[in-house]
Amino acid sequence: MQLKIFKDYHSLSAQAAREIIELIKTKPDAVVCLASGDTPRLTCQLVVEKGIQEKVDFSQFTFIGLDEWVGIPPENEGSCNFFFQTLLIKPLNLSSSQVYLFNALSQNPPEECKKMDTVITEKGGIDLMIVGIGMNGHIGFNEPGVSFTNYSHVIDLDESTITVGQKYFKGSTELKQGITLGLQHLMNSRKAIVIANGAKKAGVIKQAVEGSVSNLFPATIIQQHEKGIVLIDEEAASLLNK
Ligand code: PGA
Repeated sequence: MQLKIFKDYHSLSAQAAREIIELIKTKPDAVVCLASGDTPRLTCQLVVEKGIQEKVDFSQFTFIGLDEWVGIPPENEGSCNFFFQTLLIKPLNLSSSQVYLFNALSQNPPEECKKMDTVITEKGGIDLMIVGIGMNGHIGFNEPGVSFTNYSHVIDLDESTITVGQKYFKGSTELKQGITLGLQHLMNSRKAIVIANGAKKAGVIKQAVEGSVSNLFPATIIQQHEKGIVLIDEEAASLLNK
């Protein structure tokens, strides 16, 4: 695992966006999985801005959404689906055949998980996965205690995720379960990047990078990824041992 510290949120987001753009330039049919949330917001905006400036052909790559709140419809502004539609899919004019997002309203969630896993296998695996880190150390909805060897699954959300997750929604929203790619997907991806910014993430970054690897703090798994990168700003790095 490599640690890369950038001056601020903008420069770390520019680097994350650069990873996506350069991958698609060299491998137009790459498979890219991204998280939604506050951290990847600027990464998405910069992929769109720089990608259009540099005339990148986005028509061949496959986009995979990391996770979704079970029961929250795609038109809800707090859904991951809405985030991707607004920040990436519409601005880049991606076709529905190249985008795979979990259907949070599916009557058959296990089938939904199987479908996602099959797509990833058929596409030859994920080339690049860029994820955030939760205040409880989760990646996607891989909550503390999750198995490191899971593929896509439905999971009961941690109290912390339910509380912190309210920030994405207009009014108080009942959140119970998530549907998410698993940590085995992260480990199988050819490159995995954890991004984090701000002083509020300093404690969780310290634990993810310097703590012992344990499923009680799922993000510690990044330490074991051969092509794992932790991409953070100076504030998020402020508690790390020098
Ligand atoms: P955030 O979410 O980017 O909104 O801080 C991170 C996460 O929960 O994975």
